[in-house]
Amino acid sequence: MGLPKDIEKNFVFDLPEMKKMIRDFQGQMENGLKGEQVSMGMLPSFVSRPRGTEKGDFLALDLGGTNFRVLDVRLSGVREIEVRNSFAVRMPEHLRHGAGRELFSFIAGTLKDFLSKNNIRSLRRLGFVFSFPVQKTAPDSGTLLSWTKDLTASGVVGRDVSELLRRALEENGVENVRVSALVNDTVATFLSAAYRHNDADMGLILGTGTNACYPENTERIGYLENKYRYFPEMIINTEWGGFASLARNDFDRRLDENTSRPGEQTLEKMVSGLYLGGLVKIVLDELVRKQELFKGGDGDAFLAAEFETEDISRIEADCSEKLSGVDDFLREKGVLFSTHADREILKKVCALVSKRAARISAAGVGAILSRMDPGLKNRHVVAVDGALYRHHPWFGPRMQDALRELFPASSGNIDFVQAKDGSGTGGAIAAAISGR
Ligand code: BGC
Repeated sequence: MGLPKDIEKNFVFDLPEMKKMIRDFQGQMENGLKGEQVSMGMLPSFVSRPRGTEKGDFLALDLGGTNFRVLDVRLSGVREIEVRNSFAVRMPEHLRHGAGRELFSFIAGTLKDFLSKNNIRSLRRLGFVFSFPVQKTAPDSGTLLSWTKDLTASGVVGRDVSELLRRALEENGVENVRVSALVNDTVATFLSAAYRHNDADMGLILGTGTNACYPENTERIGYLENKYRYFPEMIINTEWGGFASLARNDFDRRLDENTSRPGEQTLEKMVSGLYLGGLVKIVLDELVRKQELFKGGDGDAFLAAEFETEDISRIEADCSEKLSGVDDFLREKGVLFSTHADREILKKVCALVSKRAARISAAGVGAILSRMDPGLKNRHVVAVDGALYRHHPWFGPRMQDALRELFPASSGNIDFVQAKDGSGTGGAIAAAISGR
């Protein structure tokens, strides 16, 4: 007995669905750029492509979904980026959910220690990489529209996050740092790849959260005031995690009900690392309860165990005949006896959920690139960062398979490059660009 067919059906995202998603997605891009209310953000970044000649030493703060990082970055002026020093820390739980003031004070305090440890005393420009939806009002400021992922810190939504940072720096006595750019992590990833190679067309994050950005012709950004049309193109932060025109199944709905913001971030909850493990767990638990999995008696141990997105990567990486890696994993979870069929079901559910995620991501990439270049006649480089893409063994290949189905004649023109440290170093580049 294998996996029940109805479960499988729930996670199919076939070619017609991908094509429909591309149509809806492009419709929302167009309407969003006119200033209409759509489920994605389509937010202006007030940043354009770097020249590759930006030069000097800059700081970056990278506040993502899970970690917080400080970087001291040297830009060579000839397309080379050197991370001279960096410090990373997992965001403490109480700061993610406490008072925003404490969160910003922690950021400022960590930066202060970093400066003193690395003996940085001269005036430095800093790029703040803030991985949440922000309505920018200028290159160096913007208002948080809402928290995403699982952050809930109070007193930040509706406020200018650069201002909150400046105030915290002042309160912590940090005087030699000027916050000169505020960027989303997708934008930072794009900048980092474009600084090095100049041919990037998209920034993509597949990590705790998911999002994409791309450079848009400013003529096509209807909502932009004329005074901001100083560049031929401006990077748009799509906030595609909010895209809502996707059919959710019962498992998606159950996952959503247990998140901090039910009803929001439909696409993100089907795609990103914060949620995929939870989704797989809901499906597997149901199979255990229906006695379709672990009938040998260890089902209760499995029900009680945690299941993370990184477990999906581990399970899917096991290609041994006996699925002995899956068995090891199950033993660690207290499931001491599993049949080969149990292990196959486990692997199959992981594959179903992550394959749908990869195909949704591919359709998003296809939508953005084919808006820029309808026949995909030119080469396109997508700069990717994020732990899900980096650690999952088949996420990238599955996206490429899906793109091949969508664009049989031209998918070879799409290249994915991993932007190593992209979101951090891109903050420094944004700071450098702000000095132009
Ligand atoms: C946020 C985006 C961010 C993405 C990846 C989403 O939850 O809304 O702003 O780019 O996560 O970090």
